Amino acid sequence: MTYYSMMPTPPVLTYAELNSRPHQIFAEYRANMPFLKREDGAYLLLRGEDVQRFVKDPRTKQIETEYLSARGITSGPILEFLSKSMLFSNGDVHRRRRQPMTKCFSFRMMEALRPKVRALAGNLLSKHLREDGLKLRDEFAAQIPAITIAAILGIPASDVQHFTALVYQVSRVLTTSWTDQDVPEMEAATAIFISYCEELIAERRKSPNDDFISEYVANVDREGELSPSEAVMQLASVILGGTDTTRAAIVIQTGLLLGQSDIWLRLKEDRRLIVPAVAECLRLEPAVGSIPRLAVEDIEIAGHVIPRGSMLILSTMSALRDPCVFPEPDVFSLERNRPRWHPVYGDGEHRCLGQALAQIELEEALGALLDCMQELRLGDASLRVSGHAGIRNVDELIVSPA
Ligand code: HEM
Repeated sequence: MTYYSMMPTPPVLTYAELNSRPHQIFAEYRANMPFLKREDGAYLLLRGEDVQRFVKDPRTKQIETEYLSARGITSGPILEFLSKSMLFSNGDVHRRRRQPMTKCFSFRMMEALRPKVRALAGNLLSKHLREDGLKLRDEFAAQIPAITIAAILGIPASDVQHFTALVYQVSRVLTTSWTDQDVPEMEAATAIFISYCEELIAERRKSPNDDFISEYVANVDREGELSPSEAVMQLASVILGGTDTTRAAIVIQTGLLLGQSDIWLRLKEDRRLIVPAVAECLRLEPAVGSIPRLAVEDIEIAGHVIPRGSMLILSTMSALRDPCVFPEPDVFSLERNRPRWHPVYGDGEHRCLGQALAQIELEEALGALLDCMQELRLGDASLRVSGHAGIRNVDELIVSPA
């Protein structure tokens, strides 16, 4: 411990090291070192207080193309998409891009969808839960967000498998598990995905109906605030944001909860515990492990300086297990005090647009599993989550009748 506090510079860790045991590495360093450096030059901020502060501090701004450039992507469809998305933009540009989507994803609008999400989760279980087990990730967790976002936007149900297969390729760029060799495949999928979104918009412009995309196109055309390609990229952003993240979170919460029979029994007896159970799973093993920012001036933290222009990775994964914020952070507790807004969804202007939707999907997915007539158990393989930042990966998980 003394060793770290005497170190003048933060240790530099590789992607591979960080991916191999992220929670342990964060816990080893967090008390004595406010951040680590990653091999690509990014600074990983570890402490709850710092992550909360710098997500919306005027000394930082959202990254735009810096992450992609640092990883060698300087042109092509991935750059075209992300540089025109609301996620990777700032100030007025960001507000223009986000505004046309906000009403659609409000808490009130989403709450009205709850019964449909519940029915969908129940139907998926009736259809796929067999004696030899349910493929929880592909047959359940992937279907709920994909079918729901398609229904919200007005995308035909028959397109769901097509766009989700593309989205999983595109969203890999927001994970920590790709190499240069993967880029051509990810670029190709992004190009097809963007053409797909362009076609959706073109069709509704030609023959509008009463769905979200028709209203969005009419609004965007009337207001004239977005360029045609920006309009496409915001549609692509919500499809992307709403598909992979919630899939991972449903697998994670099911794996964590079925892995603790006492907690599962408490939930079966009292459905009011669903809300804290979902929050606690998001805290212990978040589906999104970090939030990126750029330092717009030198930032001093605990005597160490992060130079202006550096990329910050605000590690929500580490912050959510910081004992200064969450006592006994590795213990699963339904009773702990929590902030009103879950830090896993970020904060400030970029706070997750789909938070209300994600909550409903997570709560109703859990509710449907608890309502299942049969007792459930995990198959031979236990929960496997990988990645130390960005969107994390989950392996398939088999759930069987006990
Ligand atoms: C458990 C599930 C989810 C988690 C943990 C999550 C997490 C996050 C986080 C941390 C951010 C902020 C990133 C930043 O500040 O740089 C974000 C932004 C965003 N999320 Fe989510 N998200 C989830 C589900 C969803 C869903 C279901 C949607 C569907 C609409 C969605 C759409 C978006 C969009 C469009 C943004 C960009 C907002 C902006 O830049 O203004 N997310 N999400």
